[in-house]
Amino acid sequence: MADDLTPADPSVVLDLMEAFRRSKTMFAAVSLGVFDTLADGPQTLQSLTASLAANEDALGRLLDACVCLQLLERQGDAYGNTPTATAYLCQQSPQRLTGYINFSNTVMWQLWSNLEDAVREGTHRWQQTYGWDGPIFASFFKTEESLHEFLMGMNGYGLISSPHVAGAFNLSGYHRLVDLGGATGHLAIAACRRYPHLQATVFDLPDAMPLARTTIDGSGVADRIQLVPGDFFQDELPEGDLYALGRILHDWNEKKIIRLLEKIYARLPEGGALLIAEKLITEERDGPRWALMQSLNMLTCTEGKERTLSEYEDLLKSVGFSRVSGCRTPSPLDATLAVK
Ligand SMILES: C[S@@+](CC[C@H](N)C(=O)[O-])C[C@H]1O[C@@H](n2cnc3c(N)ncnc32)[C@H](O)[C@@H]1O
Repeated sequence: MADDLTPADPSVVLDLMEAFRRSKTMFAAVSLGVFDTLADGPQTLQSLTASLAANEDALGRLLDACVCLQLLERQGDAYGNTPTATAYLCQQSPQRLTGYINFSNTVMWQLWSNLEDAVREGTHRWQQTYGWDGPIFASFFKTEESLHEFLMGMNGYGLISSPHVAGAFNLSGYHRLVDLGGATGHLAIAACRRYPHLQATVFDLPDAMPLARTTIDGSGVADRIQLVPGDFFQDELPEGDLYALGRILHDWNEKKIIRLLEKIYARLPEGGALLIAEKLITEERDGPRWALMQSLNMLTCTEGKERTLSEYEDLLKSVGFSRVSGCRTPSPLDATLAVK
């Protein structure tokens, strides 16, 4: 009899039913400018209501939810940013993650709403969601705003992960790093800071160049980093003895990956290497959760997916790389090094 059975614990299901509400609470608070408005100090609900031109009762509910989510704290009858919000949710913070939060709120949210069709058909959702056809990155970069939010989002994650990726292996024997699809240059910057003799090239699509220029100019190592615009599928790759692919292989299908890896292998000198920054799925495919969620995310917006170390090893060895090593890091990205 069902009545005699001990009920299974429903807490995972209940938590996941609520999880999207927590995400959307933070997205909305960032988008409305709550954390930026509090950047100079705590304010009362009445004062915030006036600053944000909001409904007082509704804003009060949002602020209380943000207190519960540890993004705001109460100070007397005022609300103030927590240190986490100050670091990651304010536009003026160099560590901000607001780019990817805004991109998630305005672009990814809608793509994920069609996840069922992505699973049925095994393809991204740009056409279904937005009516956009064409190269993937033309979709990411469709408007000036989406380009900026996407690249600054990559930069926010990069600031957290690139120092770990650059330090995962001893790269002191290499002289010129070429970061393909290097975006704002955070990996080249982290590597140049760690290895004082290293020169670097950030290679990316022409649209990415202006933002890369700004971040590299402010990095303190700009004299060792050059920017080269180009298409890594079409154009000749700049010369280097260490290539990097950070969150590039997870964007593309296997045929294009092999084409790109063959091109890198052919351009490398003997003993040269390729550094890959992607989150590695465990060999048992049971985690980490971040990588499994990211693989679904890739399904909604790219041709690619996340992989295990042995799946990368198979791809790398199929084009000729001999030694392949992986290193897990505590950051959003792990590191894999393949030597020619
Ligand atoms: C997912 S982002 C990763 C950016 C950066 N490597 C990081 O980890 O933050 C992919 C990057 O590849 C660049 N990209 C896409 N297609 C490219 C191509 N055909 N040639 C050069 N860069 C490309 C994009 O402009 C973007 O900066």
